[in-house]
Amino acid sequence: MATTGSVRLHTGQRMPTVGLGTWMLTDGEALKAAIDVGYRHIDTAQYYQNEDRIGEVLEQQIKDGKIMREEMFITTKLTPMGMAPEHVRKETEKSLKRLKTSYIDLYLIHFPVAHSDELLEKGVATPLYKDGTPKTVFIDPLDTWREMEKLVDDGLVKAIGLSNFSLKQVERIYSLARIKPANLQMEIHAWFPQYDFVDFCTKRGISITAYAPIGSPGKPEMPGLGPSGKALLEEPALKEVASKHGKTPAHVLLRNLIQRGIIVIPKSSNPERIRLNFEVFDFELTDEDMDVIKGLNKEKRLFTFGAVGERNFHHPFFPFPEIKDSCDFQDVNKDL
Ligand SMILES: NC(=O)c1ccc[n+]([C@@H]2O[C@H](COP(=O)([O-])OP(=O)(O)OC[C@H]3O[C@@H](n4cnc5c(N)ncnc54)[C@H](OP(=O)(O)O)[C@@H]3O)[C@@H](O)[C@H]2O)c1
Repeated sequence: MATTGSVRLHTGQRMPTVGLGTWMLTDGEALKAAIDVGYRHIDTAQYYQNEDRIGEVLEQQIKDGKIMREEMFITTKLTPMGMAPEHVRKETEKSLKRLKTSYIDLYLIHFPVAHSDELLEKGVATPLYKDGTPKTVFIDPLDTWREMEKLVDDGLVKAIGLSNFSLKQVERIYSLARIKPANLQMEIHAWFPQYDFVDFCTKRGISITAYAPIGSPGKPEMPGLGPSGKALLEEPALKEVASKHGKTPAHVLLRNLIQRGIIVIPKSSNPERIRLNFEVFDFELTDEDMDVIKGLNKEKRLFTFGAVGERNFHHPFFPFPEIKDSCDFQDVNKDL
């Protein structure tokens, strides 16, 4: 089994540096393959609709004596539909039941913009406006945070954190929180490295998890979902660094983040790539290599959350100002 690393959270927990991302992953065999290779960290979300399957596999692996619950680190995320304070505990309890566990290691607010809760009891589909964009509502994430803090008090979750919050939003929660965020999950890769934001969090003891660490090459190409990151793995400079070390471009992208102190959660449904993505502890990038990767920065966000809908970009809690600035809001109230 490969050697792995971990990052210490301010709670004292150790969070494995490499986790298995599971967005668009429903195949339990992939999770089994990951556990066999040595992954002990799984990233999921209520929104991904796969907590059930993950729970079944984990329960079976524990029964078979392959793992113990205590050695697994499970992250899941509160659905944007469940952000109203009165829903938070109930949605968490549903996750615990689906994941077949008595506690969640790290629980994140998935996105700062809340969705309408009108379909919450029916399942996970978000209610949409006629144009297909989600119906949003105005819930202050600080009110949601207060409920998350109570979950820690009561032992349902060990640590709480944020995802897709802007620097200003993180700063606000951080300064007003009774229990400070232990982790921020956000898009980070060579085209969108977010150096200043990472530095800001690190100085405050907030660990960072990078999503789309290899550019999310499998992200569907749908209008508004953001640009494709397929070409990131094809960057000639990246290939050069990779061949110098006898590694793949994906290895170099993951290793670059790990050397920056960032936790990575590459997703794969392919057992061979799952194994490969874990082989990032047997080589080291030089300062020169790190500079080459730095040179690839395009300030290019791949996840624009267009699915949240342009008409929602004016929402007071929409976190990405550069997207907001590029939008024309003339039509926001048309044909709701
Ligand atoms: N908080 C959020 O809002 C948010 C947003 C996005 C993602 N996430 C989390 O972050 C995880 C990772 O992000 P992501 O899934 O978007 O992107 P990613 O991990 O950067 O890329 C995953 C894609 O790359 C392919 N792949 C995996 N390993 C590869 C390799 N070694 N070489 C070439 N291709 C490879 C996978 O295909 P195969 O499956 O065919 O191998 C898949 O299509 C997600 O799964 C999810 O858990 C969170």
